[in-house]
Amino acid sequence: MQRLLVTGGAGFIGSCFVKLALNSGYQVILVDSLTYAGDLERLKDAKGHFKFYKADIRDFKKLEEVFKKEKPHTVIHFAAETHVDRSILDPASFLKTNIEGSYNLYELSKIYNLSLFINIITDEVYGDIKEGKFHEDSQLKPNSPYSASKAAQDMLGRAYHRTYGLPIITLRPSNNYGPWQYPEKLIPVVIIKALQEEPVPIYGDGNNIREWLYVDDCAEAILMVLEKGRVGEIYNIGSAVEKKNIEVVKAILSILKKPESLIQFVKDRPGHDYRYALNTDKIEREVGWKAKTRFDEGIEKTVRWYLQNIDWVMSKLSALRSYWDRVYQFMAKDKE
Ligand code: NAD
Ligand code: TYD
Repeated sequence: MQRLLVTGGAGFIGSCFVKLALNSGYQVILVDSLTYAGDLERLKDAKGHFKFYKADIRDFKKLEEVFKKEKPHTVIHFAAETHVDRSILDPASFLKTNIEGSYNLYELSKIYNLSLFINIITDEVYGDIKEGKFHEDSQLKPNSPYSASKAAQDMLGRAYHRTYGLPIITLRPSNNYGPWQYPEKLIPVVIIKALQEEPVPIYGDGNNIREWLYVDDCAEAILMVLEKGRVGEIYNIGSAVEKKNIEVVKAILSILKKPESLIQFVKDRPGHDYRYALNTDKIEREVGWKAKTRFDEGIEKTVRWYLQNIDWVMSKLSALRSYWDRVYQFMAKDKE
């Protein structure tokens, strides 16, 4: 049975992938430091079916103990600081985890001769695009401290492949949504604010466009790449579902039967990327993967899930409130 070392497996996408990998017969060793975004509750139904190490990827020694003991075949690297707004407030932690932490994993994977390293990057490394779509060989032009740190992670992975022969596959997924997403990202923020009848903040004019990928589809793409992807290659993972932020917000308010008067246009995010859009011909052609979930179906399932799991969301609320105070204060200061 193939042993997968999954970093960041207590996070939103990582936990979805872990459940799929376990159901598909893989053995999973999970490494996660359980930051504010990590929560083993996401894996409550899989408890006892995977090994867990509470370890920080910035800690080389601790990671080395795990590699020595577990002798994994493959690393699937999700662990990261992931939110653009937080990266604007506190870039340092993004550089440390996303760059230094990834370096530790590349180095150990080289030393312990791993068979495969799947590097989860993001479409945000390309920067934004007014028209057309990004291909895997488009230039990287990241615009936020988050995307710049992910571009550095991506480029260092490429260097480890070219210089040391690390068998790496690089994946660049678009914006994910679905159950269990930490309520700091757009879709769960709108759900939680609307449920409390609080103003729903839209940055700028709401015309920014994202390509929304249902998380189960993303996890399936990663598993299929693990089985069929070519080492040394890069694959975009997108859905072709492009939506303006304002359309996403209105769709959620409509499902929740909440008034559009809750919408509040606020000062724009500094450096706000206008549009992301991916060409996914390569993953379709080489791996045979294509996103399945329609947006109306995915957003309905997501909203229902949050309604049914409101206790989990509420358990995050006090930490979120102090975070929101910081973000909104920062935005207001920027306005002066
Ligand atoms: P998340 O924020 O929900 O989870 C991140 C996980 O990493 C958490 O469990 C956290 O505890 C863990 N972690 C953070 N720092 C760590 C450290 N120093 N050591 C060990 N563990 C640490 O993230 P997500 O949304 O599930 O994203 C997973 C990956 O996918 C990330 O690499 C992200 O850049 C990428 N990605 C995310 C999206 C998206 O829309 N969410 C889109 C494209 C790519
Ligand atoms: P987000 O979910 O933070 O993902 P990313 O910045 O990685 O794309 O944001 C998605 C879009 O929604 C982005 O254009 C910023 C916007 N946004 C808002 O308008 N209001 C909010 O409260 C948040 C969190 C995001």
